[in-house]
Amino acid sequence: MICSRCGEAYDPFSNPLMCRKNDMGRLDIYYDYDKVAESFTRANLSKRPPKGVWRFWELMPVDPKHSSPLSEGNTPLIQASRLGREIGLKNLLLKDETRNPTASFKDRAMSVGAAKAFEIGRKEVVIASSGNAASSLAAYSASLGLRCTAFVPEDVAMGKASQLLLYGARVVRVKQVAEGRDPTVELMLQTVKELGWYPCPSFGPFNPYQVEGPKTIVYETVEQLNWRPPDFILIPTGSGCLTTGIWKGLKDLKTLGLLNEYPKLVPVQPQGNMALVKAIKEGRKFEEIEPEKWPKSIASGLLDPFPWDGDAALEGVRTTGGTGEAVSEEEIRESMNKLAKHEGVFAEASGAVGIAAAEKLRNQGVIDASDTVVVLVTGSGLKEPEKITAEAKIPLIPPDIQQLRKLL
Ligand SMILES: Cc1ncc(COP(=O)(O)O)c(C=O)c1O
Ligand SMILES: [Zn+2]
Repeated sequence: MICSRCGEAYDPFSNPLMCRKNDMGRLDIYYDYDKVAESFTRANLSKRPPKGVWRFWELMPVDPKHSSPLSEGNTPLIQASRLGREIGLKNLLLKDETRNPTASFKDRAMSVGAAKAFEIGRKEVVIASSGNAASSLAAYSASLGLRCTAFVPEDVAMGKASQLLLYGARVVRVKQVAEGRDPTVELMLQTVKELGWYPCPSFGPFNPYQVEGPKTIVYETVEQLNWRPPDFILIPTGSGCLTTGIWKGLKDLKTLGLLNEYPKLVPVQPQGNMALVKAIKEGRKFEEIEPEKWPKSIASGLLDPFPWDGDAALEGVRTTGGTGEAVSEEEIRESMNKLAKHEGVFAEASGAVGIAAAEKLRNQGVIDASDTVVVLVTGSGLKEPEKITAEAKIPLIPPDIQQLRKLL
């Protein structure tokens, strides 16, 4: 394990969490790829049953015997022909991560994060999250018998809060009191220091094991495409941990000789919180990124004021020749509608932003009509139904065909 900031190497068997220099570096995990290549082959993978992220056990930092049986991942890659026609793409594919056990892609991260805590005998885990990562950690904690505390924002979405409560987490809402800072992260770090709790957020600098789960999205996607990489992958982005995972997955496959070319990576953020996309567009370095002072968007999962894993995300975008895109509130709402109405896929706002970006990049000519475009749909609409149906008026009538005729 090597700190992404200062380059110091750590013994993985000492299960380190953060760089001892407190430099916000992520302890990137490197595997013995020659050894991995012996069994991680196309032929072997094709014979393996779906066992969540553990199907790819050679590239996991935890012994699968400590994992939860919840079985995340193995999500479909949906050919979105009707939506593709609507936005001018002949080959649009949706990696539908809403099908995970708690209805977001975070289950991949938390499956690994919770298993690591369990493996090393930690009992008390803590997370800072807008809700998806927290509800996921709560479920995996329940499944493994860990005690979970979740710090969430004041206006946490009801679906996510309900999950947290039912999974038995201790849930605390934390007020934002200072601009450009995430109060949930601040409180989490205090509990790590003062109470000795084990941090399990989906940000690499505070827990290096979490990047390892999301990378399996790439393994699955490339396998589902018969080992031909797509031209683009569009990634809803907040902290950049998911983008970092996708980038890591691509590098793994290339190192193992299972991929010749990289798809172009495109992190997507709402216009109300777009520090990483701004850095991409302006050619800035990670060190030059300013946190967003007061992030605001209907995409509640994408409101991290600072992209903690932006260093690796930028590297991934630049190495693959990708780009970044920011989308408006109106575009996000339209994307949720289009996903549901044309494809039957019910996404929350954060999970739908990739569609808005695909349409914009197609219109700008960055994406060609014939390109193969994979859009990650990362969270379910059931997470935040209040945002979708708040203004909807559903008619109410007696069981009378005349009344229905009038209505029709
Ligand atoms: C539905 C959804 N999509 C995407 C993301 C962004 O992931 P990351 O913070 O790893 O960039 C989140 C994060 O909470 C999320 O909840
Ligand atoms: Zn360091």
